[in-house]
Amino acid sequence: MTDVADIFATLEYGPAPEADGEVRAWLAAKAPFGHVIDGAQAVGDGFKTHNPATGEVLAEVSQGTAADVDAAVKAARRAQPEWAALSGHQRARHLYALARQVQKHARALAVLETLDTGKPIRESRDIDLPLVARHFYYHAGMAQLMAENLPGREAIGVCGQIIPWNFPLLMLAWKVAPALAMGNTVVLKPAEQTPLTALMFAELAQAAGLPKGVLNIVTGDGTTGAALVAHPDVDKIAFTGSTTVGRAIREATAGTGKALTLELGGKSPYIVFDDADIDSAVEGLVDAIWFNGGQVCCAGARLLVHEAIADRFHDKLKARMDGLRMGDPLDKCIDVGSLIAASDCARVAALVEQTEGEVYQAGPVPQTGAFYPPTLITGLHSSDPLMQEEIFGPVLVSTTFRTPVEAVQLANNTRYGLAASLWTENVNLALDLAPKLEAGIIWVNATNLMDAAAGFGGTKESGFGREGGWAGLRAYTKPVGDAKKLPALHIPTGEMAAAGPLDRTPKLYIGGKQARPDGGYVRGVFGPKGACLGEVAEANRKDIRNAVEAAAKASGWSKTSGHLRAQILYYMAENLSARADEFAARLHAQTGQDGTAEVEAALDRLFTCAAWADKYEGRATGVPIRGIALGMPSPVGVIGAFAAEQTPLLAMVSVVGAAMAMGNRLVLAAPETAPLTATDFYQVLDTSDVPGGVINILTGSHAELAPHLAGHMEVDACWSFSSTDISSVIEREAAGNLKRTWVNYGQTHDFAAPQMDRFLEAATEVKTIWVPYGE
Ligand code: NAI
Repeated sequence: MTDVADIFATLEYGPAPEADGEVRAWLAAKAPFGHVIDGAQAVGDGFKTHNPATGEVLAEVSQGTAADVDAAVKAARRAQPEWAALSGHQRARHLYALARQVQKHARALAVLETLDTGKPIRESRDIDLPLVARHFYYHAGMAQLMAENLPGREAIGVCGQIIPWNFPLLMLAWKVAPALAMGNTVVLKPAEQTPLTALMFAELAQAAGLPKGVLNIVTGDGTTGAALVAHPDVDKIAFTGSTTVGRAIREATAGTGKALTLELGGKSPYIVFDDADIDSAVEGLVDAIWFNGGQVCCAGARLLVHEAIADRFHDKLKARMDGLRMGDPLDKCIDVGSLIAASDCARVAALVEQTEGEVYQAGPVPQTGAFYPPTLITGLHSSDPLMQEEIFGPVLVSTTFRTPVEAVQLANNTRYGLAASLWTENVNLALDLAPKLEAGIIWVNATNLMDAAAGFGGTKESGFGREGGWAGLRAYTKPVGDAKKLPALHIPTGEMAAAGPLDRTPKLYIGGKQARPDGGYVRGVFGPKGACLGEVAEANRKDIRNAVEAAAKASGWSKTSGHLRAQILYYMAENLSARADEFAARLHAQTGQDGTAEVEAALDRLFTCAAWADKYEGRATGVPIRGIALGMPSPVGVIGAFAAEQTPLLAMVSVVGAAMAMGNRLVLAAPETAPLTATDFYQVLDTSDVPGGVINILTGSHAELAPHLAGHMEVDACWSFSSTDISSVIEREAAGNLKRTWVNYGQTHDFAAPQMDRFLEAATEVKTIWVPYGE
């Protein structure tokens, strides 16, 4: 045996493994593990979980069946009303107790996490566990503040939460803490590879007096997850994992009314400019791509380095790679642990073998266990499969750029949009580029910073919804009050009037111009008593394509200032006001109701939207580093929306106004019973300096248009207030590019109450920009 004196003599590396006896004794005493349902263990047929660094079996856990899921959901349902009825303070005390339990047992939890995942103890002990405790502390505070700070919001109910294997306990904390804080109860399914810390946590929660049924854990593989997604009595699904499974969950929940947040994959750029502090940028990159063996959704996996410094940067990086130490993850001085499974090593190796780039690998690699060496591949083009596909391993791919414009283009050339790191000493450049990068999280001269107070989540195919901060909380609440069922759609019919001598084809409104419908079809518009009021065009799939193209081209709108947008919205109100009588009369003719008050309400709403255009501000979040995280609302992009039949003018301007105010472009399907209100609105848009393509209006059948608008890959969000039952088709089609949806499931929306928070929230996504102060 080597002792310290020998090490001093030879200066050889002396391993310093963390003791695992306590954890192994716990495993031996508790296995085989069951699910935790209603505060009791439920052991079923099992499978084995392994230590990937050695291949040894750690424990036998149960494979959750549909019946187990059902029992857990029932327990959560029974417990929910009482849990939600506790005061915020009482829930805060429970969360505080959980935070304290995590701190008291941090060492055991860290060791167990390392045994189950193969991640270095340095990471589980110094990063995962402190963040887990931080999440429970932070959300204890949120429970305490809920009543005062989230008025009109309440718990969603029973939440099904499905988490991956890369941060098992941290993902549990991210999901469980906000859910419980807001009064929800939970059924959590850990990843099949890494269920153990969730089970230890459940034991600690029980010891801390968490009421039974509030937190239920069902272990098992994807079939258990699918059973949870399919369970009819689950109100919300929160998922973190692969984009493929996220998409399947979007499809499976379509039309069920289940709330959904998805935190999926990424291929985040790591951009280094020639004026960056290069040594810091190299150090940051080690963390960006070799933290947790690159098995991190927000890993800085794509290096974009300024051409002028590329060689020097690569050389320094290689030198740093040579110093990385791989090996026993329990060893406190290990930099890189094992991957999650031997099959993952084979998967990553196969990807690397195919490359035409130049491969550099660090060594030596331990001969047993799922170890894969830190790898750098240089000389790739942006279109190379390895630059595009998530490798989810310790493999960094690299390319060069010459100008900031090119850097942004390369950075955004991906279907993902989770995070981006930006390294430059030029603050102007950093703050100019941060808003241009299509990602939910931007780190300036930093990487992998995360905190309970800062929103985390992506754009594009990295999923939707935010975790952390106030935005994350809203995803675990819903507005108080029951919506009513919409009356069935009734489109009045009647006799077409004879065509006049100057027959005009009714038009759509695309790209700021009136456009003939592609198919040339029209439909009559009739009053409630059958009087013919006019005709409108029947838009088809091609018209949708044209309208979306026009909206996509009008991207300059998203870069305008709130001040400019406000002025245009006020101007729209002025022009609508000038034609108030005409609009009121048209509403009366189409609906039979007096339209005067509705026109007034619509003017009021446009003013409200204009008011918000320059006041829906971000938040500077206090995070526990020397720095701040700026939570900036950014426009969603191109929104497709189906207008409501009730109060058609008010409903339409609410959608148009909110979308425009927040810098989005819109493709709007006019209300089917009052389409002339929408076609009359063309004039208001034309006379109000609204740039072409910002608002596009189509008339026609919602049922026919819905799959095409919701399925279009250039549409970023789809909303429906329609009386036609199109919620399911929208949610299903939205799975293609994982667009955000806001649909009514056949319920009314009370447009008379502005509910601007809901509109503004749906029209934006929080982009979190981390700016460390230095030192
Ligand atoms: P996965 O997405 O299959 O698994 C994540 C979780 O979803 C696990 O708990 C799993 O049991 C569950 N699950 C699987 N199929 C399901 C279904 N049909 N319905 C409901 N739940 C289901 O991820 P996997 O296979 O473990 O990893 C594959 C790839 O996914 C990785 O190589 C990586 O690219 C990506 N990934 C991304 C993560 C992230 O943090 N965004 C985390 C883990 C994986």
